[in-house]
Amino acid sequence: MRKLVEAGQSASTSSFLQAYSIIGVDDVKIKENLKEVSGQPYVVENGYLFVFVIDYYRHRLIDDNAETNMETAYGSTEGLLVGAIDAALVAENIAVTAEDMGYGIVFLGSLRNDVERVREILNLPDYVFPLFGMAVGEPADDENGSAKPRLPFEHVFHHNQYNDDKEQQREQIKQYDQTISGYYDKRTNGQRQETWSQQIETFLGNKARLDMLDQLRKAGLIQR
Ligand SMILES: Cc1cc2nc3c(=O)[nH]c(=O)nc-3n(C[C@H](O)[C@H](O)[C@H](O)COP(=O)(O)O)c2cc1C
Repeated sequence: MRKLVEAGQSASTSSFLQAYSIIGVDDVKIKENLKEVSGQPYVVENGYLFVFVIDYYRHRLIDDNAETNMETAYGSTEGLLVGAIDAALVAENIAVTAEDMGYGIVFLGSLRNDVERVREILNLPDYVFPLFGMAVGEPADDENGSAKPRLPFEHVFHHNQYNDDKEQQREQIKQYDQTISGYYDKRTNGQRQETWSQQIETFLGNKARLDMLDQLRKAGLIQR
């Protein structure tokens, strides 16, 4: 666990702010409580659970004795981006290190289903905001999953300038839809055949977690 966290900490960090913390959870009761928020069994059934938070609590302590007003910066939208990017880089470092060590991982954005409850469960103070979790564990023996195909290179890589050719993008998405439909078909023996576009429509049409701005503001972040 320590090796993973230290690998995470070696990630680049914007302006050396280190505006994140990692909460390691192995207490079963706390995991159970987090599972109620997430609704996903592997929040409990794992080797170890990390929760990644934006953290300006330590900067707030420096601010207490500072001559300038720092809150304008860490309470800004830019402060939010910096903290979220920092935490994502740390988490991805941990993910690749864990996978290199033979473990499996799954990210858990579902912890944001109820931010207030997560704050309570993890005793998060002001200026700290839960972004996502990561369950780490031994991959199951019956793990037969092949890698989920990503969007084609040409679709996500733009040379020198953004290519906003709608026809081209639509055509690439259409082809990718077939790839993903085939992937699910094969992986589930025909039980699932949905396309990527259908998944996206379901997910984004669902309009979940629309309270994030309120929750961030309650934590003292994104004031401007
Ligand atoms: C920030 C973040 C949050 C995620 N949250 C969840 C989650 O709550 N539950 C889940 O099962 N997968 C979650 N995932 C995993 C993605 O669904 C998964 O990475 C994506 O479908 C691609 O599949 P693959 O990583 O297995 O190739 C999350 C991934 C990221 C990066």
